Amino acid sequence: MKKALQVLSVFVALAAFASFASAKKSEQHEIFEEIMKKGFKSTKEKPALLKKVIDGSATAGEKAKLAEYVKKLVTLKPPEGDADSWKEKTQALNAAMMKNDLKALKTAANCKACHKVHK
Ligand code: HEC
Repeated sequence: MKKALQVLSVFVALAAFASFASAKKSEQHEIFEEIMKKGFKSTKEKPALLKKVIDGSATAGEKAKLAEYVKKLVTLKPPEGDADSWKEKTQALNAAMMKNDLKALKTAANCKACHKVHK
């Protein structure tokens, strides 16, 4: 009986851990979604923050928001690809934002280059 209880408690702990892990993953996905949709993906009607910053039409507030998004990206774990590559790409973005180096920002924000490896 005692043994059965022990086994049961292990199962309960595992189940709790698994649901925690997947909650964390979907939570991350939501953050990615917000950053990509508001920060990176432009539509005809609504240019993304990135586009505005690059073409010089962003307000100080919009610039700060993109900088915040990019900082957040550095801390996220992408669904694919290795951590070093992610760090390199997101830190290049962050550095370009901090230095206000628009040319570097444009290069670092290459959608395809990042999605191919990490999405
Ligand atoms: C540094 C890496 C990186 C760069 C640069 C990047 N993305 Fe992404 N993007 C990702 C990752 C990782 C995902 C997948 C996130 C997930 O599924 O949880 C993603 C997902 C997306 C999505 C899907 C979001 C959703 O609904 O779930 C869109 C749209 C998107 N990116 C647009 C863009 C555009 C447009 C650009 C370029 C202007 C861009 N991204 C640049 C990493 C990047």
